[in-house]
Amino acid sequence: MASPYLEVVDQAAMDRRVRELGQAISSDYAGLTPVVVGVLKGCIPFLADLVRSVEIDHEIDFLLLTRFGEQGRVAVAMDTAIPLRGRHVILVQGIVDTGLTLSALRRNLEVREVASLKSVALLDKVPRRIVDVPVEYRGFEIGDEFLLGYGLDWAGKYRNLPGLWAVMDMGRLSDLDATFPATVFGGAGG
Ligand code: IMP
Ligand code: MG
Repeated sequence: MASPYLEVVDQAAMDRRVRELGQAISSDYAGLTPVVVGVLKGCIPFLADLVRSVEIDHEIDFLLLTRFGEQGRVAVAMDTAIPLRGRHVILVQGIVDTGLTLSALRRNLEVREVASLKSVALLDKVPRRIVDVPVEYRGFEIGDEFLLGYGLDWAGKYRNLPGLWAVMDMGRLSDLDATFPATVFGGAGG
């Protein structure tokens, strides 16, 4: 039977692309001290790698969103500790899918009168976009596969997987539970 999961970006390719993004940010923000704001929780491995390729001074902070109702409405469940007014803000997300989350977040930040606002997404699911929202820095453009690993989760799990994995058959996700991480980490289980 065909494997129900497939590695789409390995750790080495990820490292190379993340380094390029960090270099682009370093030159675009030279002389400024931006605030890199990670959108929890999917940003974590990506942000940790990204900032180590950003060679200019910057601060790091985080936001946690909660989703409610239809239309991708979001509220800020945990805000940044750093006041963002007047700052150059770089939003960091693991993935932009429909774009609803990012567009709501951009509106939320724009009313705080930030000096500038750009966003970075490791992954941009271009064919799924519903709202046209700018993503100034993107790691990879992808199709509409469901991806796991490197911060992306299913039911809170699999964020720890190195590399990025596509799940070919969502119906089998729960069957994969027992063997999937062990396989990725090279242990027992297939
Ligand atoms: P939005 O549709 O752009 O508002 O994105 C909503 C959220 O869905 C993202 O921030 C992710 O948390 C999640 N998401 C979308 N696609 C995937 C995926 O392929 N894997 C894991 N999470 C995803
Ligand atoms: Mg999620």
